[in-house]
Amino acid sequence: MAKLDVKISQKVLQEMLANHGVLLFETLNYHWNLVGKEFHDYHILFDGQYKQLFENMDLIAERIRAIQGQALGSMKEFLATAIIKEDTKATREPRQMIIRLLAQYEKMIEHIRDSIGTLEAKTQDYGTRKMLEDLIEQHEKTAWMLRSLTEK
Ligand SMILES: [Fe+2]
Repeated sequence: MAKLDVKISQKVLQEMLANHGVLLFETLNYHWNLVGKEFHDYHILFDGQYKQLFENMDLIAERIRAIQGQALGSMKEFLATAIIKEDTKATREPRQMIIRLLAQYEKMIEHIRDSIGTLEAKTQDYGTRKMLEDLIEQHEKTAWMLRSLTEK
């Protein structure tokens, strides 16, 4: 009977939760502060993205609880745990926002890919692995859409 080593899964999921928290705030910042003639389109785009990130955070945090962990719940912990770093440079220009978001999504995708590899090699946590596989597919789609906006 295979017992689950939850420590590895918990670490991976905490990093994932923190990454989503950082990106959620970055996306909200852009949603609120962008300016220019494309305001409406990007405001709506970022609206959909932050809602998706928030939904993911809830799923990830509940998965942490389901495997006996304690979900991170403070901004300080999020910033200390996130693999992606918070973008604190101000911009109000939509194209800059898209470029910065794309870079963050690409880092998140790399982190998820590495994490799936770690889970495959070291645990039998099929539930967490399935969740990460769904997340990577979703983020790759978002990255494609962001990348398409940068290519003219
Ligand atoms: Fe809004």
